[in-house]
Amino acid sequence: MIITIVGGQWGDEGKGKIIDHIAEKADVIARYAGGNNAGHTIENKLGKFALHLVPCGVGWEGTKNLIGSGTVIDPDVLINELELINKNNLPGEIFISEKAHMIMPYHIKLDQAEEAYRGSEAVGTTGRGIGPAYSDKISRNGIRIGDLKNIETLQSKISKNLNIKNKILKEIYNTDEISEKYIFEKIKEWNNKLSKYIANTEQILYENIEKNKFILLEGAQGALLDIDHGTYPYVTSSNSISGGSLTGLGLGAKDIDNVMGVFKAFTTRVGEGPFPTEIFGKDAETIREIAGEFGTTTGRPRRIGWFDAVAAKYSVKINGLDGMVITKLDILDKFEKIKICTHYEYKGEVLSYFPSDENILSNIKPIYKEFEGWDESTFDVSSYEALNSKAKEFLKNLEDIVGIPIAYISTGPSREATIPVSYTHLRAHETREDRGWRGVGGK
Ligand code: IMP
Repeated sequence: MIITIVGGQWGDEGKGKIIDHIAEKADVIARYAGGNNAGHTIENKLGKFALHLVPCGVGWEGTKNLIGSGTVIDPDVLINELELINKNNLPGEIFISEKAHMIMPYHIKLDQAEEAYRGSEAVGTTGRGIGPAYSDKISRNGIRIGDLKNIETLQSKISKNLNIKNKILKEIYNTDEISEKYIFEKIKEWNNKLSKYIANTEQILYENIEKNKFILLEGAQGALLDIDHGTYPYVTSSNSISGGSLTGLGLGAKDIDNVMGVFKAFTTRVGEGPFPTEIFGKDAETIREIAGEFGTTTGRPRRIGWFDAVAAKYSVKINGLDGMVITKLDILDKFEKIKICTHYEYKGEVLSYFPSDENILSNIKPIYKEFEGWDESTFDVSSYEALNSKAKEFLKNLEDIVGIPIAYISTGPSREATIPVSYTHLRAHETREDRGWRGVGGK
């Protein structure tokens, strides 16, 4: 069985916790897009670990953790992460797709220089070189992790690239060049430290599918940051939606059995771009402080807003969501009124869809349905029955408005603060046939 877990909003929905929870039962956990712009923390009996590239399953014995072809990898960051993992004896096995592209030192410099050049129109990137690395991949100038196996050919590719990148850095952005010697030294170190992890990850997946293993595909960022379907140009440079889990791992359209979207009970966004339900002032401050809404990768304060069901319904469509996970319910505990945006208003017209035009999206007015707050703690509640009736009413409305079932509710950072609402969705070792999968042609 294969499940894809994606962020349903603009990232930081708390995917890490829920993926870690499900990963306990998984055999293979694979990351399919993005790079170290993402970040998640896993917590188990061995400690608390902040990871940016290696999938959450690494904390669990007997798991295979794949970093797929659709990702971009900063080798220095990965080496640090591997050292942390090895030092703490995290038990999962790690494999890196030979097709994954590397973030080179010039990509990081270019990302930062391009952002500075954009001035007031900056995207607000994480500055980790993500966009320039994907640009090189698409323009066929990229360097793949597998290239580390042949240092001579790799040196020649790097020399050609560096020739152009240094001209851009110096002549257009008026910033320092990067020395060839520095990169040549680096690739030797990368080769030494990474080569044993480089693998044909597609083959590992196919063998595990054949054996009917439980495979979990781990999304990074969120659907609304997707390069094609997000709020372009204020997006990341990869396909963060569930479709990215096919292209970013070499799977076929019919391979995925279940797609789960993770949503906060409110909304956050880091970086620039339209955010229809954004709020300011006291309510925003309260949420930011209680929920610790500061970026895991950059430490930037996150922008805050109410739950946007118009955007969530769009997310259901672009990801093909079967169910949703609602996180951080407890953060809403102290509010007198809680809001869900059900429609938008634009120039006097009511919109029930998520517009792609940045100008419309930046100028719409959210139309809200208001709910009475519950003024009662839901923190660490671990069963649905134990939730108060007003919180249940809010959740029921979320399901009705968004139109898909809630599979899990998270009420705090601990593993126990997780309520499986319809756990049948995620039963680990059922076969696809048990789940009613009818095969090609619906036989
Ligand atoms: P980039 O991915 O660094 O190019 O950044 C592009 C946009 O995506 C910026 O608005 C970032 O703040 C946002 N972004 C990238 N990764 C994440 C993430 O993991 N969580 C939330 N926002 C992200």
